[in-house]
Amino acid sequence: FSGGPLSGKHVLVTSGPTHEPIDPVRYIANRSSGAQGTALAAALRDLGARVTFVTGPADVPPPAGVTVVRVETAREMLAATQAALPADAAVMAAAVADWRVDNASGSKIKKDGSGKAPALEFAENPDILATVSKGASRPSLVVGFAAETDDVTAHAAAKRVRKGCDWIVANDVAPATGIMGGSENAVTLITDTGTEDWPRLSKEETARRLAGRIAEYLV
Ligand code: C5P
Repeated sequence: FSGGPLSGKHVLVTSGPTHEPIDPVRYIANRSSGAQGTALAAALRDLGARVTFVTGPADVPPPAGVTVVRVETAREMLAATQAALPADAAVMAAAVADWRVDNASGSKIKKDGSGKAPALEFAENPDILATVSKGASRPSLVVGFAAETDDVTAHAAAKRVRKGCDWIVANDVAPATGIMGGSENAVTLITDTGTEDWPRLSKEETARRLAGRIAEYLV
C-alpha cells in the first residue's frame, strides 16, 4: 500500500448511520448499512492513504488497516471528526440523523397504564459536513454525499453550495432503486466544474473510482 498515489496523505472517512437514544434501550436510526463508506475507506487505504474511519453502528465490519473510531450519536461523530483533523481530504459518507430526541430519558420509559404514549421532542443535530467545510482546519478537499429520492441532481447541487463542500456524490435512494442497504450504487458526481453520471456499479467499484479521483486531486 505504501508508495501508492495517496501515501503520506491523511484522509478522514465518516460512515454508517447514527443512533439517537430515546432511553437506555431504545433509539432512532436510519437504514444506512455503512457499505459505501467502508468500501471507500478500503479503496483509499489501497492507494496508500492513512485513513481515519469514524463510523456509526454499521451492518458491515470496518476495513482492516485503517484507524477505526466508533461512535453512536451525531454529536459523538462531530467530536470524533474534529479530533481527527487535520486531514488532506474528508469524505463524509455517514447518514447522520438530522434530529436527536431532546427529551431522552435516563431510565427505561415504562407504560404507566394510562394508555397514553410518551411524546418525543426533537432537536436538530449539528451538521458535521457543513461544520468541517466551514471550519478553521478545513481539509483541502471535502466530499459530501447526498441521498435523495427526487430531483437528485438539483437538490444535491444546491446542497454542495449550502454546505460549503467541494464535491457531492449524489445517489437516488428511492426504494425502487434498491441502493440503500444494497450492494450497488449509481451516483452522480457534482464538482465546481460540472456533473458526471456514473453507471450502476458495485459499491466497491464506485469507491475505487472515487478514491482514484481523490488521488488525482490531491497529487
Ligand atoms: O442534508 P443531508 O443529510 O442530505 O446531507 C448529506 C451529507 O451531509 C452527507 O455527506 C452527510 O454525511 C452530511 N451530514 C452531516 N451532518 C448532518 C447531516 C448530514 O455531516 N447532521
